[in-house]
Amino acid sequence: MPTTWRFSTSDEILFGRGAAAQIGAEAALRGYARALIITDARLIDAGLAAPLQQSLQAVGVRVDVFAGGAPEPSDVIVDAAAALARETMPDVLVALGGGSNMDVAKVAAAVYTHGGVCADYFGEDKIPGPTLPVIAVPTTAGTGSEVTAVAVIEHVARGLKLGVASTHVRPKLAIVDPLLTRSCPPRVTAESGMDALVHAVEALTVVTPGALVLPEGLRPQFTGRSPLTDSLAERAIGLVGEHLRRAVYTPADMDAREGMHLAALLAGMAFSSAGLGAVHALQYPVGAVTHTSHGLGTGLLLPYVVEYLLPANPRGFARVAELLGAPAQAERCVEAIQQLKKDIGIPLRLREIGVEEMHLRPMAEQAATYARLLRMSVRPMNADALLEILKRAW
Ligand SMILES: NC(=O)c1ccc[n+]([C@@H]2O[C@H](COP(=O)([O-])OP(=O)(O)OC[C@H]3O[C@@H](n4cnc5c(N)ncnc54)[C@H](O)[C@@H]3O)[C@@H](O)[C@H]2O)c1
Ligand SMILES: [Fe+2]
Repeated sequence: MPTTWRFSTSDEILFGRGAAAQIGAEAALRGYARALIITDARLIDAGLAAPLQQSLQAVGVRVDVFAGGAPEPSDVIVDAAAALARETMPDVLVALGGGSNMDVAKVAAAVYTHGGVCADYFGEDKIPGPTLPVIAVPTTAGTGSEVTAVAVIEHVARGLKLGVASTHVRPKLAIVDPLLTRSCPPRVTAESGMDALVHAVEALTVVTPGALVLPEGLRPQFTGRSPLTDSLAERAIGLVGEHLRRAVYTPADMDAREGMHLAALLAGMAFSSAGLGAVHALQYPVGAVTHTSHGLGTGLLLPYVVEYLLPANPRGFARVAELLGAPAQAERCVEAIQQLKKDIGIPLRLREIGVEEMHLRPMAEQAATYARLLRMSVRPMNADALLEILKRAW
């Protein structure tokens, strides 16, 4: 059995309705004088950037805005954000948005500080030292990127989604304000909410540190589940079961919004140390082929990966079923997740989102290259296993 485990998260977390209005005071406390907000046009139109800008300006912080963020962002966007930072010389980046804008800011901070381009930092532990600090302000309840040490960016030249995993991309401060998710459209709420569920389920069912086999000399971000990550993941699953349907059906229900924002945060804290698994490895090629969102893909794939893993961890998946309000039996976990997907409009099969049978083998082979994720699995995962899962999901 493992004897040592490690847990890391953002230095500070400020949570609650109205918390975003405190960003000026938080910046002043840290001595920041120039901020660059990294966001996108949709969020500016939705009126989410202006209050941050005003709060910062009210304490004398000069604010510039990068509005070039986009869903499922590419290295081109990261490099453009870093270029604007070189012009405006901020002493903090404020990441306003869902996982997409937060991930752009996290890697742009590294490019700004250490030079080069985004593509230089793909992989594990490639950032040589601390970066320009990032304050992350999530506007979706999903990715948990506000507390994680990973960013996911498409490398345009290769047509692949790749991770930048490094302790140095973790935001210094997360300001998690449920009011900011109120304008989130039901589809984004459903898809990002499913991603939060996947994070919690994967974190709760990955290997423990003692069972983790690492390449020589590697300092990974994902180090296996622990009592602490289990507590966070269990709470997150319960919160998703309780609040996700309501957040999708009644977008102005602030109790549901707050429950989901907390779920996403706790799930992010859990997986960022424990790890993720095959659902995420499979989503990257599925997303690349179908141009569907990360949360749609992970949500669609989750029950099929669970089915494959059940025999290796019946107790873990029985617990997931129980937390979702079903009887505490491993097989009921798959049903409970499929029912949730149906209720909130997540497609059940890969064929419904444009995947053709001929795509399955290349997808499995691509997914098999994500060692950072697959080494966390309680049941060995190779291209054949991944293909079997994809066939069932198709
Ligand atoms: N770094 C991590 O730890 C991590 C974890 C999981 C996923 N991700 C990545 O995060 C990305 C997905 O992020 P996401 O699910 O948060 O969605 P997103 O950031 O892509 O946002 C989706 C769309 O919703 C809009 N939107 C977001 N919040 C809104 C609001 N409050 N009101 C109105 N519109 C709003 C955005 O402008 C965007 O157009 C993917 O690229 C995925 O790979 C990262
Ligand atoms: Fe995810």
